[in-house]
Amino acid sequence: MGRFIVCDHPLIQHKMTFLRDKNTDTKQFRELVDELATMMAYEVTKDIPLEKIRVQTPVAEAEGFVVGRMLGLVPILRAGLGMVDGMLKLLPSAKVGHIGMYRDPETLQPVEYYFSLPSDVTERELIVLDPMLATGGSANAAIASLKARSCRPTKLVCLIAAPEGVKAVQEAHPDIDIYVAALDRHLNGHGYIVPGLGDAGDRLYGTK
Ligand code: PRP
Ligand code: URA
Repeated sequence: MGRFIVCDHPLIQHKMTFLRDKNTDTKQFRELVDELATMMAYEVTKDIPLEKIRVQTPVAEAEGFVVGRMLGLVPILRAGLGMVDGMLKLLPSAKVGHIGMYRDPETLQPVEYYFSLPSDVTERELIVLDPMLATGGSANAAIASLKARSCRPTKLVCLIAAPEGVKAVQEAHPDIDIYVAALDRHLNGHGYIVPGLGDAGDRLYGTK
């Protein structure tokens, strides 16, 4: 079973509080998602393998380490886009693919409408990004879509998850590690996370 990790660093909890607040405007919301994604990038890469190198300091030769893994980021559009720049601040060499997916408001089933990946994607370990993990339908479909194209998704990074979504991803993709900033109580009758933050895409882009 993949790992389930709640990244509850005090600074993450602080920023998550303002992210949830319904009085936080679009500009602030976008900045908070960006900052949270940077902090999540730090947590998500804690286990990244290193390669030893030697460097020459002004005084002597020293042993050093460089990240020995090629990474790719795959945001689920739209809301996942809000996490890309924040992640790239710490992972500037990562390439970025995009999966367009929306949740049908009636059936809550994911509908894929766009798919684009970097040319060397099969050589990269992929981190899937979406601020919200509700039923898990969108994340599961995105991960399945990547696997069907011989890609290697290994991690799913969300800001808020419902227990229902975590369970669904763990059952469908037990090889995936899930990282969240908060695990909330449950889903309501419309598939929204409670207490959640409302609709992440609408709050990021000022729609609706
Ligand atoms: C939201 C969110 C996830 C999905 C989560 O996207 O960003 O992709 O819902 O729900 P699920 O776990 O039940 O699938 P939405 O469909 O609202 O599209 P958007 O990002 O374009 O706003
Ligand atoms: N998508 C969102 O943006 N918010 C939720 O609470 C559930 C799905």
